Amino acid sequence: MRQIGKACGHFFICSTRVRSGSAIRGFVRHRMAAQRGGPALSHGRTSAFSTCPRPRARSLPMKSTVSDLVVQRSATTARGEAAVPTRLSVARTREALLELKKATDRCRECPLGARATQAVCGEGRVRSAIMVVGEQPGDKEDVQGRPFVGPAGKLLDRALDELGWTREELYVTNAVKHFKYELRGKRRMHKTPAQREAEACHHWLQDEIDLVRPPALVALGATAARVLLGRQVAVTKERGRWHGDPSGRPVLVTLHPSALLRGDPRQRDEAWQAWLKDLGIALPRKAKD
Ligand code: URA
Repeated sequence: MRQIGKACGHFFICSTRVRSGSAIRGFVRHRMAAQRGGPALSHGRTSAFSTCPRPRARSLPMKSTVSDLVVQRSATTARGEAAVPTRLSVARTREALLELKKATDRCRECPLGARATQAVCGEGRVRSAIMVVGEQPGDKEDVQGRPFVGPAGKLLDRALDELGWTREELYVTNAVKHFKYELRGKRRMHKTPAQREAEACHHWLQDEIDLVRPPALVALGATAARVLLGRQVAVTKERGRWHGDPSGRPVLVTLHPSALLRGDPRQRDEAWQAWLKDLGIALPRKAKD
């Protein structure tokens, strides 16, 4: 916080959202807007960093490194429109994503952070044409700190392989960054995140999107689709088509791989082919080398 105070002079942070990526962006937007002499607005909202009493602000942590990096990548005008897109180098983007992961790890904006081992952020190519968004980390992901390393991830890898893609060509992440589970004996059983939890986590995903800036996204399952499109999505009806997110970015909706794993074994082949067909819209089949 002392560094932020130094960096921005008279702007102080006043809410718990200081820990959040959107607050990070808000902070720098505020600073950028102030430098331009305009109001500090972010998508029509006043910055979380506007007029805050100093004493409270002093006790809060600071995120100046990531804030600079994130906002260089997602500069907006005072009216909240995309401004001149500043491209960070790959190295700086990676650095910002690492900072983001550390900030996400500390997030306690919903109860999930306190129970999980760690936050699981995305990984993959930072200049990827496609960002794949799942629901939330599972048990294995929570322990390893990497997305899609459990059974759902193995199925995703199989599908990618079938289509001639590799995980390394994509950026793969989740809508919710901490594992939600209930204990059954010693086993941690996956629990679907509540809407409010997904909403609380949305700004972290948005920061990843702002940094990676994929031209298109794939939403795996209802949680990802709802977060990305900003509305309820009937996945079985809306799957296999492009939809526009609120900024107009194309989002392909399809099933979550867990739905295939749980599905009726007698319909497994059919479900698999239908899923490949959906995924193939965003990831056109490539000839294998
Ligand atoms: N399911 C998801 O949605 N994400 C993961 O990372 C793993 C399982």
